[in-house]
Amino acid sequence: MDIYLLDWANLLLRWAHVITAIAWIGSSFYFVFLDNSLTAPLAPELRDKGVTGELWAVHGGGFYHPQKYLVAPKQMPAHLHWFYWESYSTWLTGFALFTVLYLFNAGSFLIDKSVHDWSADAAIAASLGFLVVCWFVYDTICRTFGQKKHGDLIVGLGVLVFVVFASWLACQLFAGRAAFLLVGAMLATTMSANVFVWIIPGQRKVVAQLEAGQPVDPVHGWRAKQRSVHNTYFTLPVLVSMLSNHYGWLYSGKHNWIVLVLLMLAGALIRHSFVARHKALVQGRRVPWEHAIVGTLALVGVAFWLAPRPAGIVVAKPLAFGDVKAVVDQRCAMCHNAALQQKGVALHTPELVKQHAQAVFQQVVVLKLMPLNNATQISDEERALIKRWFEAGAPLD
Ligand code: HEC
Repeated sequence: MDIYLLDWANLLLRWAHVITAIAWIGSSFYFVFLDNSLTAPLAPELRDKGVTGELWAVHGGGFYHPQKYLVAPKQMPAHLHWFYWESYSTWLTGFALFTVLYLFNAGSFLIDKSVHDWSADAAIAASLGFLVVCWFVYDTICRTFGQKKHGDLIVGLGVLVFVVFASWLACQLFAGRAAFLLVGAMLATTMSANVFVWIIPGQRKVVAQLEAGQPVDPVHGWRAKQRSVHNTYFTLPVLVSMLSNHYGWLYSGKHNWIVLVLLMLAGALIRHSFVARHKALVQGRRVPWEHAIVGTLALVGVAFWLAPRPAGIVVAKPLAFGDVKAVVDQRCAMCHNAALQQKGVALHTPELVKQHAQAVFQQVVVLKLMPLNNATQISDEERALIKRWFEAGAPLD
């Protein structure tokens, strides 16, 4: 019953997390598009009001005419919409989901004893440490180098080196699946912290200065822009790390941290082409697709690198269900039996194995998600046996 309720919590939190993330990333994509697509206002009265950019758009049956004031309008409007709940609720639902899935089941989800053998408490503390430390390291890099000469380049390289190191470290400490997710959660926490610690408080200060009739300190606008540009480059890497942890063949290899780094790098490069595309279209320049092409090639490279190698010449023993059953008894039954039925799957009788043949094939051969973290040390030969059995129609004799 507990597991059943936890599964409901898992489903509802995941649903809410995806909805809020769509709202957040969607509005972030929209504003990056808007900012990069603005043109100087044509009407003189707009220029007189302090408008520095405008866009005409049509959507859902109406025409829209957003206008941007570079620092702020001369007078504060009565109603000002703030964008922050999208970000905060994405983080809150994500952290709750992480807690339900990984922290409540740290022993089976966070820890893989063949990677690093430690206690659940230590693994939980370390995973939370990743989220916090990343923010402080990133924020220190931005504050120290951000306003120096070539600041953007130094900050970009500094963050890249840090993320590569964190990916490597996570893969030395946690089960592959948890490591992939954690690196994404770490960057996503940094994105939300950018909004919470700098962007929104900075904008509040600007509003307060305007309302008090004081000169506006441009550093707030500059910093908010710097952090939201970083957030835009984090989005695709974060999403790929959140999704890739559902594919065992991505995270279970020996050099899984390189796979993760390449996936995230591909995301950032592809995002760069799209960010640059908006400006290029407005200015009538060529779109720099080469970044997206390099990113795509990185993905193709990973696909080739991880492609299953045909097994050497195997002297094929005639297929016997007894052999398959022995593998399932030894490698699966401890978590899938009459008493303990993970995900409602029990595999302790021949009929049950047959009934779940498709799912067993999917989990063991295709996705390599089972046995969970390979807790029971299934061998490649045993996976190949299950493949042969399934492809032969899952016979029971
Ligand atoms: C250490 C415990 C453990 C072992 C060993 C194990 N499993 Fe699982 N299995 C789980 C857990 C936990 C889940 C639920 C995973 C989730 O929710 O992501 C699961 C889920 C599944 C599912 C359902 C997947 C889905 O998403 O619907 C199948 C099928 C499955 N296991 C098959 C197997 C097979 C076959 C083996 C043996 C080769 C095996 N498992 C070994 C713990 C285990």
